[in-house]
Amino acid sequence: MFPTPSTSHADYDKVYEPSEDTFLFLDLLQEELPFLQRRFSDLSILGSPLVLELGSGSGVVVTFFHNHILPDALFLGTDINPEACKTALETSKVNNGTRYFDVLRTNICDSLRPNSIDVLLFNPPYVPADTLGSYESSVKSGDWLDFALLGGEDGMRITNVVLDQLDNIMSRERGVAYILFCFRNKPDEVSQAMRAKGWTVTKIGERKVRWEILSILRFEKE
Ligand SMILES: C[S@@+](CC[C@H](N)C(=O)[O-])C[C@H]1O[C@@H](n2cnc3c(N)ncnc32)[C@H](O)[C@@H]1O
Repeated sequence: MFPTPSTSHADYDKVYEPSEDTFLFLDLLQEELPFLQRRFSDLSILGSPLVLELGSGSGVVVTFFHNHILPDALFLGTDINPEACKTALETSKVNNGTRYFDVLRTNICDSLRPNSIDVLLFNPPYVPADTLGSYESSVKSGDWLDFALLGGEDGMRITNVVLDQLDNIMSRERGVAYILFCFRNKPDEVSQAMRAKGWTVTKIGERKVRWEILSILRFEKE
Protein backbone atom coordinates (compact mmCIF):
# COMPACT_ATOMS: atom_id res chain seq x y z
CA MET A 1 0.00 0.00 0.00
CA PHE A 2 1.29 3.46 -0.85
CA PRO A 3 1.47 5.72 2.22
CA THR A 4 -1.26 8.31 2.78
CA PRO A 5 0.10 11.88 2.67
CA SER A 6 0.31 13.61 6.03
CA THR A 7 -2.39 16.19 6.79
CA SER A 8 -1.38 16.79 10.41
CA HIS A 9 -1.29 20.57 9.76
CA ALA A 10 -5.00 20.63 8.77
CA ASP A 11 -7.65 22.15 11.01
CA TYR A 12 -10.61 19.78 10.76
CA ASP A 13 -12.95 22.35 12.27
CA LYS A 14 -12.50 24.18 8.97
CA VAL A 15 -11.66 21.57 6.33
CA TYR A 16 -13.14 18.15 5.51
CA GLU A 17 -11.23 15.47 7.38
CA PRO A 18 -10.08 12.59 5.16
CA SER A 19 -12.65 9.85 5.76
CA GLU A 20 -13.72 6.46 4.39
CA ASP A 21 -14.72 8.03 1.06
CA THR A 22 -11.30 9.66 0.75
CA PHE A 23 -9.54 6.40 1.61
CA LEU A 24 -11.63 4.47 -0.93
CA PHE A 25 -10.43 6.99 -3.49
CA LEU A 26 -6.78 6.43 -2.53
CA ASP A 27 -7.11 2.63 -2.57
CA LEU A 28 -8.86 2.49 -5.94
CA LEU A 29 -6.49 4.98 -7.55
CA GLN A 30 -3.67 2.67 -6.54
CA GLU A 31 -5.47 -0.18 -8.35
CA GLU A 32 -5.89 2.09 -11.38
CA LEU A 33 -2.14 2.66 -11.64
CA PRO A 34 -1.58 0.22 -14.58
CA PHE A 35 -4.54 1.70 -16.50
CA LEU A 36 -3.37 5.28 -15.94
CA GLN A 37 0.27 4.54 -16.70
CA ARG A 38 -0.78 2.90 -19.98
CA ARG A 39 -3.07 5.78 -20.88
CA PHE A 40 -0.43 8.41 -20.21
CA SER A 41 2.67 6.47 -21.30
CA ASP A 42 3.37 8.53 -24.42
CA LEU A 43 3.71 12.20 -23.51
CA SER A 44 5.66 13.08 -26.65
CA ILE A 45 2.68 14.48 -28.59
CA LEU A 46 0.21 15.83 -26.03
CA GLY A 47 2.65 16.63 -23.20
CA SER A 48 2.11 16.26 -19.46
CA PRO A 49 -1.48 15.54 -18.46
CA LEU A 50 -3.43 18.08 -16.42
CA VAL A 51 -4.94 16.47 -13.32
CA LEU A 52 -7.79 18.29 -11.56
CA GLU A 53 -9.18 17.42 -8.16
CA LEU A 54 -12.56 19.12 -7.82
CA GLY A 55 -13.42 19.89 -4.20
CA SER A 56 -9.88 19.10 -3.13
CA GLY A 57 -10.52 19.67 0.61
CA SER A 58 -7.34 18.83 2.54
CA GLY A 59 -5.58 18.02 -0.75
CA VAL A 60 -4.77 14.49 0.31
CA VAL A 61 -6.09 12.84 -2.88
CA VAL A 62 -4.35 15.11 -5.36
CA THR A 63 -1.12 14.91 -3.35
CA PHE A 64 -1.35 11.10 -3.29
CA PHE A 65 -1.90 11.16 -7.05
CA HIS A 66 1.21 13.26 -7.55
CA ASN A 67 3.36 11.20 -5.20
CA HIS A 68 2.36 7.74 -6.40
CA ILE A 69 0.35 7.67 -9.63
CA LEU A 70 1.51 10.21 -12.26
CA PRO A 71 4.39 12.24 -10.77
CA ASP A 72 5.11 14.08 -14.04
CA ALA A 73 1.64 15.54 -14.46
CA LEU A 74 0.47 19.10 -13.80
CA PHE A 75 -1.97 19.48 -10.90
CA LEU A 76 -4.87 21.74 -10.03
CA GLY A 77 -7.23 21.65 -7.07
CA THR A 78 -10.44 23.60 -6.69
CA ASP A 79 -12.61 24.26 -3.68
CA ILE A 80 -15.23 26.75 -2.60
CA ASN A 81 -13.85 26.70 0.95
CA PRO A 82 -10.94 29.18 1.27
CA GLU A 83 -9.44 27.26 4.20
CA ALA A 84 -9.44 24.10 2.09
CA CYS A 85 -7.53 25.91 -0.66
CA LYS A 86 -4.79 26.96 1.78
CA THR A 87 -4.68 23.53 3.40
CA ALA A 88 -4.33 21.69 0.08
CA LEU A 89 -1.32 23.83 -0.88
CA GLU A 90 0.26 23.10 2.49
CA THR A 91 -0.47 19.37 2.16
CA SER A 92 1.32 19.30 -1.18
CA LYS A 93 4.26 21.25 0.26
CA VAL A 94 4.83 19.06 3.33
CA ASN A 95 4.59 15.84 1.31
CA ASN A 96 7.39 16.44 -1.22
CA GLY A 97 5.15 18.78 -3.17
CA THR A 98 5.46 19.66 -6.80
CA ARG A 99 6.02 23.13 -8.26
CA TYR A 100 3.30 22.19 -10.70
CA PHE A 101 0.36 22.35 -8.29
CA ASP A 102 -2.01 25.21 -7.65
CA VAL A 103 -5.46 25.61 -6.12
CA LEU A 104 -8.26 27.72 -7.46
CA ARG A 105 -11.03 28.95 -5.21
CA THR A 106 -14.08 28.57 -7.41
CA ASN A 107 -17.57 27.15 -7.61
CA ILE A 108 -17.59 23.62 -9.03
CA CYS A 109 -16.11 23.81 -12.57
CA ASP A 110 -16.37 27.56 -13.13
CA SER A 111 -13.23 29.14 -14.58
CA LEU A 112 -11.89 26.00 -16.26
CA ARG A 113 -10.78 26.12 -19.86
CA PRO A 114 -12.92 23.95 -22.13
CA ASN A 115 -11.57 20.46 -22.87
CA SER A 116 -8.45 21.01 -20.79
CA ILE A 117 -8.63 18.34 -18.09
CA ASP A 118 -6.98 14.95 -18.68
CA VAL A 119 -7.74 13.37 -15.29
CA LEU A 120 -10.60 14.52 -13.07
CA LEU A 121 -10.89 13.32 -9.47
CA PHE A 122 -14.07 14.17 -7.56
CA ASN A 123 -15.24 13.09 -4.12
CA PRO A 124 -18.34 15.29 -4.04
CA PRO A 125 -20.72 16.37 -1.31
CA TYR A 126 -22.95 13.31 -1.88
CA VAL A 127 -25.20 13.07 1.18
CA PRO A 128 -28.91 13.49 0.29
CA ALA A 129 -30.26 16.55 2.11
CA ASP A 130 -32.98 19.18 1.81
CA THR A 131 -30.41 21.90 1.29
CA LEU A 132 -26.91 22.63 0.02
CA GLY A 133 -24.28 24.70 1.78
CA SER A 134 -25.20 28.40 1.69
CA TYR A 135 -22.50 30.69 0.30
CA GLU A 136 -23.84 33.80 2.07
CA SER A 137 -24.05 32.21 5.51
CA SER A 138 -20.63 30.57 5.14
CA VAL A 139 -19.07 33.91 4.23
CA LYS A 140 -20.67 35.38 7.38
CA SER A 141 -19.86 32.54 9.76
CA GLY A 142 -16.58 31.31 8.25
CA ASP A 143 -17.95 27.76 8.51
CA TRP A 144 -17.74 25.93 5.16
CA LEU A 145 -18.18 22.36 6.32
CA ASP A 146 -21.81 22.05 5.12
CA PHE A 147 -20.36 22.26 1.60
CA ALA A 148 -18.32 19.15 2.23
CA LEU A 149 -21.31 16.88 2.78
CA LEU A 150 -24.71 18.25 1.77
CA GLY A 151 -25.64 17.17 -1.73
CA GLY A 152 -29.28 18.30 -1.98
CA GLU A 153 -31.85 16.07 -3.68
CA ASP A 154 -30.55 12.47 -4.01
CA GLY A 155 -27.20 13.92 -2.96
CA MET A 156 -26.71 14.73 -6.65
CA ARG A 157 -27.11 18.50 -6.98
CA ILE A 158 -23.37 19.21 -7.32
CA THR A 159 -22.45 15.95 -9.04
CA ASN A 160 -25.13 16.53 -11.69
CA VAL A 161 -23.59 19.90 -12.55
CA VAL A 162 -20.25 18.17 -13.07
CA LEU A 163 -21.75 15.33 -15.11
CA ASP A 164 -23.59 17.83 -17.32
CA GLN A 165 -20.34 19.70 -17.94
CA LEU A 166 -18.08 16.68 -18.32
CA ASP A 167 -18.09 16.82 -22.09
CA ASN A 168 -17.03 20.46 -21.93
CA ILE A 169 -14.34 20.02 -19.26
CA MET A 170 -12.53 16.84 -20.27
CA SER A 171 -9.84 16.74 -22.94
CA ARG A 172 -11.06 15.08 -26.12
CA GLU A 173 -7.96 12.97 -26.68
CA ARG A 174 -7.40 11.23 -23.35
CA GLY A 175 -9.79 12.58 -20.69
CA VAL A 176 -10.76 10.22 -17.86
CA ALA A 177 -12.88 11.18 -14.83
CA TYR A 178 -13.25 9.40 -11.49
CA ILE A 179 -16.33 10.31 -9.43
CA LEU A 180 -17.46 8.85 -6.11
CA PHE A 181 -21.12 7.95 -5.43
CA CYS A 182 -23.08 6.58 -2.52
CA PHE A 183 -25.89 4.09 -3.18
CA ARG A 184 -28.57 6.75 -2.64
CA ASN A 185 -27.07 8.74 -5.54
CA LYS A 186 -28.34 5.88 -7.82
CA PRO A 187 -25.01 5.21 -9.54
CA ASP A 188 -26.53 2.53 -11.82
CA GLU A 189 -28.98 5.07 -13.24
CA VAL A 190 -26.14 7.57 -13.65
CA SER A 191 -24.10 4.97 -15.56
CA GLN A 192 -26.99 4.23 -17.91
CA ALA A 193 -27.67 7.90 -18.58
CA MET A 194 -24.01 8.67 -19.24
CA ARG A 195 -23.60 5.62 -21.52
CA ALA A 196 -26.56 6.92 -23.53
CA LYS A 197 -24.53 10.13 -24.00
CA GLY A 198 -21.58 8.17 -25.40
CA TRP A 199 -19.46 7.70 -22.29
CA THR A 200 -17.79 4.43 -21.36
CA VAL A 201 -18.58 3.96 -17.67
CA THR A 202 -16.76 1.43 -15.48
CA LYS A 203 -17.31 0.81 -11.79
CA ILE A 204 -13.73 0.50 -10.56
CA GLY A 205 -14.72 -0.64 -7.08
CA GLU A 206 -17.10 -0.28 -4.17
CA ARG A 207 -17.00 -0.59 -0.40
CA LYS A 208 -19.61 -0.95 2.34
CA VAL A 209 -19.09 1.72 4.97
CA ARG A 210 -21.51 1.29 7.87
CA TRP A 211 -25.00 1.72 6.31
CA GLU A 212 -23.65 3.19 3.09
CA ILE A 213 -22.25 1.62 -0.09
CA LEU A 214 -19.66 3.84 -1.73
CA SER A 215 -18.47 3.29 -5.27
CA ILE A 216 -16.26 5.06 -7.78
CA LEU A 217 -17.15 5.24 -11.46
CA ARG A 218 -14.66 5.89 -14.23
CA PHE A 219 -15.91 7.91 -17.23
CA GLU A 220 -14.10 7.88 -20.57
CA LYS A 221 -15.20 9.22 -23.91
CA GLU A 222 -13.98 7.00 -26.72
C1 LIG B 1 -16.53 15.17 0.53
S1 LIG B 1 -15.45 16.55 0.55
C2 LIG B 1 -14.01 15.83 -0.22
C3 LIG B 1 -12.72 16.49 0.16
C4 LIG B 1 -11.46 15.77 -0.35
N1 LIG B 1 -11.47 15.74 -1.79
C5 LIG B 1 -11.39 14.37 0.18
O1 LIG B 1 -11.62 13.41 -0.58
O2 LIG B 1 -11.13 14.22 1.38
C6 LIG B 1 -16.12 17.61 -0.72
C7 LIG B 1 -15.30 18.87 -1.01
O3 LIG B 1 -15.98 19.60 -2.06
C8 LIG B 1 -15.98 20.98 -1.74
N2 LIG B 1 -17.14 21.60 -2.40
C9 LIG B 1 -18.46 21.44 -2.10
N3 LIG B 1 -19.24 22.16 -2.88
C10 LIG B 1 -18.41 22.82 -3.73
C11 LIG B 1 -18.63 23.76 -4.79
N4 LIG B 1 -19.86 24.17 -5.10
N5 LIG B 1 -17.56 24.23 -5.46
C12 LIG B 1 -16.29 23.83 -5.12
N6 LIG B 1 -16.03 22.97 -4.11
C13 LIG B 1 -17.06 22.46 -3.43
C14 LIG B 1 -16.09 21.02 -0.22
O4 LIG B 1 -15.68 22.26 0.32
C15 LIG B 1 -15.21 19.83 0.17
O5 LIG B 1 -13.87 20.23 0.36
